[in-house]
Amino acid sequence: MATKIILLLATIGAVVAVPHKSLKRPNHDHIDYYDCSGKANGSYVHPSDCTRFIMCSNGNAADMACPDCNGHDPQCDGEAYLRWSETTGNCEWPADTECVAGDSDPCPGIVAGGSCGKNDCKHCGFCTEKMSQYYRCNRTFPSDPKLEITGKWVIESCDSDLWWDPDLKPSSEVEEGFGGACNKWDNLSPATKEKWRTDKSCKAVLEEVCLWGQDEGDQCSERYWYYDPDTMAVREDLSCPTGLLWDQATETCRSCGNVAGCDCK
Ligand SMILES: *[C@@H]1O[C@H](CO)[C@@H](O)[C@H](O)[C@H]1NC(C)=O
Ligand SMILES: *[C@@H]1O[C@H](CO)[C@@H](O)[C@H](O)[C@H]1NC(C)=O
Repeated sequence: MATKIILLLATIGAVVAVPHKSLKRPNHDHIDYYDCSGKANGSYVHPSDCTRFIMCSNGNAADMACPDCNGHDPQCDGEAYLRWSETTGNCEWPADTECVAGDSDPCPGIVAGGSCGKNDCKHCGFCTEKMSQYYRCNRTFPSDPKLEITGKWVIESCDSDLWWDPDLKPSSEVEEGFGGACNKWDNLSPATKEKWRTDKSCKAVLEEVCLWGQDEGDQCSERYWYYDPDTMAVREDLSCPTGLLWDQATETCRSCGNVAGCDCK
């Protein structure tokens, strides 16, 4: 009898150690927010969610959920779902898997196809492989006003030459990450440009180039920065020696009289 119980326990232990296979979250077939054309059959990184992945088959894209994680298992790291691993091409333990969908989930809690409310008017933008995209609550207004307004989150793309600009938001209170619209690169604030330059998911578009620059308000001061693509997009803040100012035009330190537009009394 004792042997039987030990055997039973050993069997349960073995089952718990293996990731859960039940799929509670929905998969979505034939999605239009990921372009599989020209891609081989197979699995690809999801544009915005580490716990999902994209499956391309015959040029059609499907948005697939990784299985749930058993919350009692330490390897779940407190996470509810397994995470997609670009390295193994499978859903793996969260503790072993770096999030590869982006720096962090830009629109927490939102999944394409998930329901949204009648007052979810603010879009949530993010960057992915080759474009700026955003979640939009696509609402259905029933002709009978007694019926409820329902909505589903859809992913849509900015025009290919435009970027998501979080500053184009209305004055009413907006949750962090929400609000905003597509805009031209030149119109983005320095902070937004910096955000997209250093966002892992934008890397495919932005050339990995080194840059010298100054923050807004730092013109005619000694403060400047250097951005090096080799140091994994970490920006270094630097200062010219005392008595010299940073000249962005020539990308070096100079005395005030040689820096255009500065008042040198
Ligand atoms: C891709 O998968 C589909 C079935 O899903 C199959 O019919 C097709 O032949 C596959 N294409 C390649 C190139 O393997
Ligand atoms: C938005 O919802 C309408 C129905 O109200 C539907 O016809 C349309 O296809 C939806 N758009 C997207 C992008 O899913």
